[in-house]
Amino acid sequence: MDSQKTKYKIAVIAGDGTGPEVVREGLKVLEAAGKKFNFKYETIKYDFGGERYLKTGEILPESALKELEKMSVIYLGAVGHPDVKPGILEKGLLLKLRFSLDQYINLRPVKLYNVDFCPLKDKKESDVDFVVVRENSEGLYKGMGEFQKKGTKDEVAIQISHNTRKGVERCIRYAFEFTRKRNKAKKLTLCGKTNVLTYAWDLWERTFYEVAKEYTDIKTDYAHVDATCMWMVKNPEWFDVIVTDNMFGDIITDLGAMVQGGMGIAAGGNINPEGVSMFEPIGGSAPKYTGKNVINPLAAICAVSMLLEEIGESKAAKAVEDSVIKVVKTKLKSLSAGKMGYSTPEVGDLVAKNL
Ligand code: IPM
Ligand code: MN
Repeated sequence: MDSQKTKYKIAVIAGDGTGPEVVREGLKVLEAAGKKFNFKYETIKYDFGGERYLKTGEILPESALKELEKMSVIYLGAVGHPDVKPGILEKGLLLKLRFSLDQYINLRPVKLYNVDFCPLKDKKESDVDFVVVRENSEGLYKGMGEFQKKGTKDEVAIQISHNTRKGVERCIRYAFEFTRKRNKAKKLTLCGKTNVLTYAWDLWERTFYEVAKEYTDIKTDYAHVDATCMWMVKNPEWFDVIVTDNMFGDIITDLGAMVQGGMGIAAGGNINPEGVSMFEPIGGSAPKYTGKNVINPLAAICAVSMLLEEIGESKAAKAVEDSVIKVVKTKLKSLSAGKMGYSTPEVGDLVAKNL
């Protein structure tokens, strides 16, 4: 049967800016991993992004969505084009994919691979090792709201954070399961704003402690989002797994990326545990570096590691991560674009060879 010949169907959306350059290195490492760990896959490439939109006006056709629903997994480069008004591609492509495929978890590991690249003083590598579980389908990202008296002096803009019991609960359950499976400190911290946002965070807090009763092996904790930012800088070692809503998760994971060494190394997964998930480097399309071969591909390669874990190739996932760690520890001068001491393809080669 065909399905035995080609095991995984991997959709590849390289996207805009430096997306294609980093995705090329990710695929190089994937190929090396496939050979070494003996798994087969097929890649199906899609040219969605700014260029196609500017040429055709099309962002993500319905027919493509139908195809994507049948993939094992999606590998995404970057979304964002200097000639396209901000918001169009983000909403039309990235958020559209997350919502349509019901990828309700955004998983973002924050792990320091080399202490030399940490901006925090007096921290060891083991001090920065936690995971953020960000709700990925609701909250402010639902885009609910309205203008009133637009364009007048009395204008009002309303932006609603929409949280459902089901949406909140499935995210919190995922976070408890994840904390158990991770089996590190077995501690889950809810990051919210119960002191001000007394509707949304009342629901989140109630749900959190209700679900917690089923997970007596997991320690629970709560921190306001502002305090979470403070602790992430001051005492990141306090965190094991953090669960939070869409907007707070977006913000704290950029801070997380910085404490782990920068956007050059930060990857994330948009996960539908029952469906098709999508993995991406979390930095943007970095248009000013496009085509220069100076961008760091490690975030995209770490996204491949997460992708492999998701499809069940755990050994390959671990080998890719270990190889990244080795390269980050022994080769790179910096994790920033243009300062690595190697070009983009050279970094990809190093990781592939080290596998
Ligand atoms: C991210 C990005 C996106 C988000 C943007 C590009 C819509 O910042 O993945 O964190 O806000 O979720
Ligand atoms: Mn973000």
